[in-house]
Amino acid sequence: MALTFPLHRNPYPATDDAVARVLADPGFGDHFTDHMAVAIWTKDGGWGADEVKPYGPFQMDPASAVLHYAQEVFEGMKAYRHADGSIHLFRPEANAHRFQNSAARLMLPQLPGEDFVRACAELVRADAAWVPDAEGERSLYLRPFMFASEVFLGVRAAQTVTFCVIASPAGPYFTGGVKPVDIWVTDTYARAGVGGTGSAKCGGNYAASLIAQYEGYDHGCSQVLFIEAADKDRVEELGGMNVFLVTADGRLVTPALTGTILEGITRDSILTVAGDLGLVPEERRITPEELFGGIADGTTVEAFSCGTAAVVTPIGAFKSAQGEWRLPENGSPATMAIRNAILDIQYGRAADDHGWMRPIA
Ligand SMILES: Cc1ncc(COP(=O)(O)O)c(C=O)c1O
Repeated sequence: MALTFPLHRNPYPATDDAVARVLADPGFGDHFTDHMAVAIWTKDGGWGADEVKPYGPFQMDPASAVLHYAQEVFEGMKAYRHADGSIHLFRPEANAHRFQNSAARLMLPQLPGEDFVRACAELVRADAAWVPDAEGERSLYLRPFMFASEVFLGVRAAQTVTFCVIASPAGPYFTGGVKPVDIWVTDTYARAGVGGTGSAKCGGNYAASLIAQYEGYDHGCSQVLFIEAADKDRVEELGGMNVFLVTADGRLVTPALTGTILEGITRDSILTVAGDLGLVPEERRITPEELFGGIADGTTVEAFSCGTAAVVTPIGAFKSAQGEWRLPENGSPATMAIRNAILDIQYGRAADDHGWMRPIA
């Protein structure tokens, strides 16, 4: 039976002043709204206990399985307010689908896509006052997640699982304008291997990527790019974003989906709109030699990373233990055109020709 997520309203919501203060400068991931959506799955009873309720801590038994075996998956998406005040989700069915794939890989239960989308929509409706206005690239970030809440020790699939969605107002990723970022290409650490969890959005992937991220910080870079683990012969993705190259002859090249990288929804959307911008999308293998050599010989004229949080971010240089490859300082015209094309759809400033926006309030 479909879940309905009935609202049990928070009797002590944040005051209008407190919400206004947060929305004036939301940052990212620091403030949470008045409510959260929750549902519980048990092996015998399936999904139930669904509700939107006051935001607050879970009571966790120290033997909850997720704390020991990391059986957990999550999603990241945003609600956007348009100029007319309406609120929209961007391709939530795609997040629902990826959540199902991630859950299957982690032996977590399947949450029907319509229940996933309803949970997000009902939470946003309850907390509509927390969705910033359309000015300045602000949005309400949604974090659906699911974890093994059964109390037991032992390596097996949990028989009690908690699903939850929380929401956090998000400011622009770049305050003071979009600036190119430098990327560290690690050959010390790998993120995923064939048959592993690279294409699942599970917390363990991010825990494992932290050390490489910090290696990048040590080299003055803000993100890290991973190379395929076994043969080191193809570029994969960043710790939390996909990567694209733009060539001098107008091709938009990104690593093909090989099961070891996350199927980014921004990535897919960019591949879809590329043609409208006169670019030829190409999903294929990119070797490290092509990545570095293409910048050195002028074949590659732009590079950018993409994901829900930062949308599209120009890359200034790739750095590795072997050297540094700096992209031309050309203002990243193709990158910025793609960035604007995606944002214009998300904020309702351009026609939604691909049918991606879901009005919810
Ligand atoms: C590892 C990784 N790759 C790529 C992405 C980009 O995915 P999306 O565009 O769906 O946000 C993310 C962000 O969720 C990520 O964590």
